[in-house]
Amino acid sequence: MSTLKVGVIGAGSISQHHLTPYKNNPNVTLLAVCDMNLERAQKTAEQYGAPHAYSDYNELLANDDIEAVSICTWNDTHAEISIAALKAGKHVLVEKPLCRTVEEALKIEQAVKESGKILQVGFVRRYDPNAQMLRAFVDNGEFGEIYYAKASYLRRLGNPGGWFADSRRSGGGPLIDIGVHVIDLCWYMMGRPKVKSVSGNTYRKLGNRSNIKNLSSYKAADYSAESNDVEDLANALIRFENGASLLIDVSFTLHAKENEGVVKLYGDKGGFEIDPEVVIVTEKHDTIVNIRPQTDSKGFQFEKAFQSEIDHFVECVQTGKQPISPVEDGVEIMKILRGIYESASTGKEVYL
Ligand SMILES: NC(=O)c1ccc[n+]([C@@H]2O[C@H](COP(=O)([O-])OP(=O)(O)OC[C@H]3O[C@@H](n4cnc5c(N)ncnc54)[C@H](O)[C@@H]3O)[C@@H](O)[C@H]2O)c1
Repeated sequence: MSTLKVGVIGAGSISQHHLTPYKNNPNVTLLAVCDMNLERAQKTAEQYGAPHAYSDYNELLANDDIEAVSICTWNDTHAEISIAALKAGKHVLVEKPLCRTVEEALKIEQAVKESGKILQVGFVRRYDPNAQMLRAFVDNGEFGEIYYAKASYLRRLGNPGGWFADSRRSGGGPLIDIGVHVIDLCWYMMGRPKVKSVSGNTYRKLGNRSNIKNLSSYKAADYSAESNDVEDLANALIRFENGASLLIDVSFTLHAKENEGVVKLYGDKGGFEIDPEVVIVTEKHDTIVNIRPQTDSKGFQFEKAFQSEIDHFVECVQTGKQPISPVEDGVEIMKILRGIYESASTGKEVYL
């Protein structure tokens, strides 16, 4: 089998976590890097041994040797670049969130159907080894019917600034940026039930807190604290047609003692926690038992998750297999996210 020829569009902070796993995959040849900042594209291409660097993604897409692309740009460009790439005959791995709006998501879905190409959404939490291990337990009915889940992704200080803090380019704040990860992970573990309604709140109380010293956090490649029009906290209750519910809260800034990552799911035969540490809870012979699966890491393994996301994408393209995070799931998650924003702005429950 010949190697898959790949281009990476967007050479900012997260691109390293696509480029390194591509480099590690023996079935891939990295051909090009594109960034509107040409110097950044050139430097990155050189660092990873890619022969081409572009500042315009259309030039990259016009390179007929390139078969697949990763899209690691600002959220406002995901729809435009995904559709252009699919039309140019490329397979696409697009970073989360799929895009900014449901309208954009549906257009991408249409383009996937018309092109017949693979589009994988970068829901990286699904690809973590612990998540896949627990998914096998779910699929084998170990937890019975999962009827309740709750997740928190609370950063006390973590507004990445720049485009992340500009709702026109990002589509929103922590809800669309990090809430997307935990909402998707719970929904995936619950068996992707049909959503009935959402009710949410967003708050803009603390600003970006760029005044804070002595604590560092994730930042956009072109960090700026100058403007910030996104929420700093969001919470929501998501109801599913099968009666299950999901409760979440997420923040970029909050007067919290420490950052908090919690992902817990409860079924009628057992429960499990993914964050902060993997635990299974069940009942045996009239006794409650907490089971600690023996894995390499108790928590989320960032590098391993990205490696398996990239390996899965390459395998899907080379074999024609459908990805475990297809475009349809990106559309559903976008409906949930936009529904929460709508509920927060109208003060009403939104029926999807
Ligand atoms: N999966 C994860 O855990 C994770 C983590 C962080 C970011 N992300 C996602 O990755 C994407 C990028 O985030 P980031 O943190 O790398 O941001 P970043 O600002 O660090 O980098 C984005 C890069 O894209 C470039 N760019 C923007 N528009 C472009 C265009 N039209 N053509 C070419 N280049 C363009 C910018 O110049 C910049 O270098 C976002 O969608 C974000 O949500 C995912």
